Amino acid sequence: MNNAELVIPRQIGTEGDTAVILDYATLHDLQAIHELELALFPEEPWSIDMFLEEIQHETRTYCVLREGDSIIGYAGVMVVADTADVQTIAVIPEREGRGYGRLLLNTLHQLAQSRGAERILLEVRADNPRAQQLYLRNGYTQIHLRRGYYEDGQDALIMMHEFTPAEPDSTQDSYETNPYAAEYLHRGESHVY
Ligand SMILES: CC(C)(COP(=O)(O)OP(=O)(O)OC[C@H]1O[C@@H](n2cnc3c(N)ncnc32)[C@H](O)[C@@H]1OP(=O)(O)O)[C@@H](O)C(=O)NCCC(=O)NCCS
Repeated sequence: MNNAELVIPRQIGTEGDTAVILDYATLHDLQAIHELELALFPEEPWSIDMFLEEIQHETRTYCVLREGDSIIGYAGVMVVADTADVQTIAVIPEREGRGYGRLLLNTLHQLAQSRGAERILLEVRADNPRAQQLYLRNGYTQIHLRRGYYEDGQDALIMMHEFTPAEPDSTQDSYETNPYAAEYLHRGESHVY
């Protein structure tokens, strides 16, 4: 793969006049990430101690999207031997549907591949079609259903994506090829590069 794909931090878009930066998460981000976690995963939020452990763990890598002083998205991946797992991925509701979820997911793919992963797995709630769409459109297929996996009894879909050696880097899409970017540029609002 091309190492240029893994330039972090880098600007990946704008919201109004504010740059949106893809960056690695640091310990300073823990509080903000945890506040988002409580809002975005109200069913089973991770504790701040879990995030602390995750961010410091050598097999994990966490990224954030910064807009000014705020975090608008975060995602993490675990890589052990040739298999990666999406630990979490989230974008704040005010910034959904702009391509940030896809960008974070593809960043996890690149990080995983750079650490030798040949495939990536995740679990997603059966009642979360939006996230499932994100995964289906980015090469995942359902390989298993774990009934009653979540604390509230909801089932989990286990999904997997096999990497190909030269997977195209869609996070580097220009506005000409990224439908979100084209749409938002056209509307003069925001865009993801
Ligand atoms: C799932 C989530 C990360 C998607 O983030 P996002 O920034 O909205 O994602 P994107 O804008 O890249 O869109 C990804 C896909 O979502 C779907 N989508 C986008 N906007 C949508 C909308 N307004 N309504 C329904 N689906 C939409 C599309 O299928 C899109 O696929 P495409 O890129 O092929 O068009 C985000 O909704 C989220 O954080 N949800 C709450 C936390 C969560 O459920 N995380 C996943 C846990 S497994």
